[in-house]
This record gives sequence, structure tokens and C-alpha cells, in this order.
Amino acid sequence: MAVFSHDITERKTAEERLITSLKEKEVLLRELYHRTKNNMQVICSMLELYSMDFDDETVKNVFSELNNKIRTMALVHQKLYKSQNLSCIGMKEYIRELVELLMKSYRASPQRITPEYDLDDIFFAIDLAIPCGLLVNELISNALKHAFPGSRQGRITVRLKKKEGEYVELQVADDGIGAPSEFDFKSGGKMGLQTVFALGGHQLQGKIEFESSAGVTCRVIFKNKPFTNQTNI
Ligand SMILES: Nc1ncnc2c1ncn2[C@@H]1O[C@H](COP(=O)(O)OP(=O)(O)OP(=O)(O)O)[C@@H](O)[C@H]1O
Ligand SMILES: [Mg+2]
Repeated sequence: MAVFSHDITERKTAEERLITSLKEKEVLLRELYHRTKNNMQVICSMLELYSMDFDDETVKNVFSELNNKIRTMALVHQKLYKSQNLSCIGMKEYIRELVELLMKSYRASPQRITPEYDLDDIFFAIDLAIPCGLLVNELISNALKHAFPGSRQGRITVRLKKKEGEYVELQVADDGIGAPSEFDFKSGGKMGLQTVFALGGHQLQGKIEFESSAGVTCRVIFKNKPFTNQTNI
């Protein structure tokens, strides 16, 4: 009898130790996400300070676009440390915040260029959320920079929809002026479009399609890996 109760006590102590250790790791991971986000914000502030030394608009734009890319990644870390299971973020909320951030950065008024959303409740782990965020960043930036010259008004629509199996479809579309005729998005782009094909094709291992008629539409279909597909928050 005494041996039996000794066994139970030992097992309970081991279990408690395990729970404490797990909780400590959770706190550490949350702290790590928080600090990473803070460090990224420090880099952004430094870029903003350096950019003040230049009058040239082209140079200022380079700084501002770098800043946007870092903020895109920082936002993933911010969402992660606020998430419950520390592994996935809700893309619905993330994409809306990201688009709002970019609209502000390009000083685009929502009355002139109106963002519209059709986003399913989809959760991505960090390894998908970051490339997906950077991809949205490039596509929205392109729409804001090229689709609505002068005072042209229009809409940018962002969709993230669940498809068959584990597949998801991301779509960014605008009703702006469209790309130059005969433009080949795959080979004719600069850093921006090259980044889209690299992120979509390699990192997300997806299929990328562009269409330019009444504005530009980009569709990327990729797989939300099963181990990352857990609902949380
Ligand atoms: N949504 C869009 N509407 C109209 N034209 C577009 C759109 N997206 C891309 N383009 C055209 O495709 C070109 C290439 O885009 P890309 O993103 O590669 O380069 P960029 O935006 O000019 O510079 P960066 O490398 O800084 O992104 C643009 O210069 C523009 O002419
Ligand atoms: Mg671009």
C-alpha cells in the first residue's frame, strides 16, 4: 500500500514539473516573439531616422518600402505573441491590419482607393504567414503605386479562401489602369514581381497566375500544411 502511494506521489511530482517546464517555455517563446517584434520596430525607427538625411524621393521610397517589409514581418510576431497556442496566427485579422498599414504608408485615402476583403477564417504558422504577408505586401504596394495614377479612384480586393483539401487561394485584385499591354509578369517585373514569384513559387510552393484586363489580378494557390492548420486565438 505504502509503495503504491509513493508511486503516485512521484508520478504527480513529475507531472507538475513537466507542466511548470512547459509553462516556462511558453513564457520564453512569447517573450522571444515580443522581443523580435520590438527589435524589428527599432530597425524601422532607425531606417526612418536615416531616411531624413535624404531629400531625393527615390531614396526616401526605398527606405519606406524596406520599412514596410520589416513591419509586415513584425506584425506576424506581434500576432504570434498574442496568440493562444503560440504557433498560428489568424490571417483574416493580419491581412486587414497589413493592408491598413500599407494604405497609410502610401498615404492612400480609403475614399479614393477602397480596400475590400473576402477572408475566410484561416490560420497560418509562422513559416507560411511571413511569406504570405510579404507577398500581400508586394501586390498591395504595386496596386497602390501603379494602378491608380493621379486622382483615379478604385478598389483593391483581397481574398483568402479555403479550397479543396488543405489548399487555400489568395487573390489580390485592383480595378486600376492595368499593366502595360503584352506585359509578362513572370519575366518582365523588377524586384517586386520577382519577390512574388520567389515567395509564391518556392516558399509557399504554390501556383501563381496574373491577369491584366480591367486592372490587375494575382491568384496564388498553395497548401496550408496540415501541421500548421490548427485553430487558435
Ligand atoms: N497592380 C498593378 N497595376 C498596374 N501596373 C502594375 C501593377 N502591378 C505591377 N504593375 C507593372 O509591373 C511593373 C513591375 O512591377 P514590380 O513590382 O516588379 O516593380 P515596381 O513596383 O516598379 O518596383 P519594385 O521592385 O520596387 O516593386 C510595374 O512597374 C508596373 O508597370
Ligand atoms: Mg512593385
